[in-house]
Amino acid sequence: MSNIERTLSIIKPDAVERNLDGQIKDMFLSNGFTIVQEKKIKIGKLEAEKFYKVHETKPFYNDLCTYLSSGPIVVMTLEKENAILANRELMGSTNPKDAKEGTIRKKFGISIDKNSVHGSDSPENAKIEIDFFFNS
Ligand code: CMP
Repeated sequence: MSNIERTLSIIKPDAVERNLDGQIKDMFLSNGFTIVQEKKIKIGKLEAEKFYKVHETKPFYNDLCTYLSSGPIVVMTLEKENAILANRELMGSTNPKDAKEGTIRKKFGISIDKNSVHGSDSPENAKIEIDFFFNS
């Protein structure tokens, strides 16, 4: 049975700053994703704090929110069969050091903070994250 899903992808400030957004979008397209919605924006710290609220108790929360609001980002709704898992596989491990060859984070990530992309981790969060950027 088919399971077409949508997931939220963010090309983070480190990648946009290095003009990698075109190459990263090409990787999504060549891996069968459709870019359903897309916008380039810069968010404020408060918005970043709201977006990453699930991580608010983590020691890296403040730096993470400062970082996501530090420069332009590209947010996209991606669609594909099993898009959420497929996107996580294409991104690779959170820490680029652990990411497999051929993944976005292996290719472009600089560090666990500057790891170039974000992707939703579950169908529930995908809906929340897509609504956050595109239906608010
Ligand atoms: P992302 O998928 O955007 O979700 C939360 C982000 O927190 C993660 O990518 C990392 O960039 C960042 N982060 C920083 N330190 C850690 C850590 N120790 N564990 C997980 N994520 C971290």
